[in-house]
Amino acid sequence: MATKLSVNINKIATLRNSRGGNTPNVLQAAIDCQQFGADGITVHPRPDERHIRYSDVREIMPVITTEFNIEGNPKEEKFVQLVLETKPHQVTLVPDAAGQLTSDHGWDTIAEAQYLRDTIEVFKRSGIRVSIFVDPVENMVAAAADTGTDRIELYTEAYAANYHKNKEAAIADYIKAAKMAYEKNLGINAGHDLDRDNLGYFSASIPHLLEVSIGHALIADALYYGLENTIQLYKRCL
Ligand code: PXP
Repeated sequence: MATKLSVNINKIATLRNSRGGNTPNVLQAAIDCQQFGADGITVHPRPDERHIRYSDVREIMPVITTEFNIEGNPKEEKFVQLVLETKPHQVTLVPDAAGQLTSDHGWDTIAEAQYLRDTIEVFKRSGIRVSIFVDPVENMVAAAADTGTDRIELYTEAYAANYHKNKEAAIADYIKAAKMAYEKNLGINAGHDLDRDNLGYFSASIPHLLEVSIGHALIADALYYGLENTIQLYKRCL
């Protein structure tokens, strides 16, 4: 089964927010990305709403014809309420701090095991699939399996940073982590800093990769190639 491409549209909201009006139109972008071939839409609302706003998330859910993935930190009560209200297909839990520029680490699934178990249970009771953001570290993946999560999202920043130096070395930990996830019956997603250069090798090297979520590089490429072409280019890498 082909790996799904979920397009993270936070950057479109960032552009809109820089001028205060409604251009570009985030809701239309969600509709168009799906029309252009995206297999899903991802949003990552943060408490300061500097990218996607909570109101955007509520407006986007009804226009989803593919899969909706909401990412965020469940330690924010407002985030939990938003997810339970909108009921996306998937929630991806990320341990990022409120003012953080972007996500920069996965969960410590050992130290936070009980917290994760309790939190994941709340979403699963509502019928929402849960994925948790983890570093490519085997014991963190193994412990993720005990939290009740359906999937993990492998944090690919380190892979992307090292891909051009030595791609075999850059992917090694991810192969081990993915093998562990598969053995433990966890679905495998991946994301962060994936781009048109590094995506093909990642996807070819990680068996059973269910979904990648990509924002920054894809939206940047769309400035040159257009959104429709860009989505197709990324899909071809998969
Ligand atoms: N996954 C998570 C958990 C993220 O926080 C982000 C960035 O918001 C992404 C994936 C997508 O990363 P990028 O914008 O670098 O493609």
